[in-house]
Amino acid sequence: MDLRDILRRRRMVRHYTGEAVPRETLERIVATVRRAPSAGFSQGQRLLVVDDPGLLTDLAALAGGPDDPDLEPWFPSAPAHVLVLTREGDYHDRYQSEDKLREGEEVEWPVPFWYVDAGATLMLVLLTAVDEGLSAGVYGVPVEQDAAFRALLGIPDDLRIVAGVTIGRGAPDPGWSGKTSRATQRRRSLDELVRWNTW
Ligand SMILES: Cc1cc2nc3c(=O)[nH]c(=O)nc-3n(C[C@H](O)[C@H](O)[C@H](O)COP(=O)(O)O)c2cc1C
Repeated sequence: MDLRDILRRRRMVRHYTGEAVPRETLERIVATVRRAPSAGFSQGQRLLVVDDPGLLTDLAALAGGPDDPDLEPWFPSAPAHVLVLTREGDYHDRYQSEDKLREGEEVEWPVPFWYVDAGATLMLVLLTAVDEGLSAGVYGVPVEQDAAFRALLGIPDDLRIVAGVTIGRGAPDPGWSGKTSRATQRRRSLDELVRWNTW
């Protein structure tokens, strides 16, 4: 698929048919992590793929269903999740190596690049899912649920959960499409978002 087509098609889909996603397809989607950019090639991104039916059920139970009866089932219909994780320690390790030290010190980070790189990786997962003819939806793990996600999925302390992505064959989600931020918020004009030469 042409990149422009992929970008046009990409939107968060929060409802899936019951169809399973083949392992090989998921493998191709998550293999893109190796093509993601990372500061100093620190490669702090990690992806955790959840396709075990028992764990998927547990994740759906953890997230709880929306109270709104007009919303299609999101987690209960998702045949796979990819959790985007980051290991901040990889960045400190890398930037404490000889070729990266500045006057013997680790650089002062302008922004936490471990989250920047996780975002770039998240985008690769979304675009590759679309390229595979699938749909995907991003969710944040609420702070109060972080410990439960970690315990369920055995995520160690040195990895931070940045976001989760549900992946599957898209089913109609008119309920969600009508009420999510994309529907309620005006899309900003290009002029608001992009300027040239000086701000
Ligand atoms: C980091 C991140 C976290 C998000 N968390 C949620 C979420 O918890 N629940 C949800 O319904 N959508 C979530 N979204 C999806 C956004 O609402 C969505 O990207 C935005 O409304 C634009 O819609 P589109 O991606 O379909 O173009 C998240 C997106 C990102 C990038």
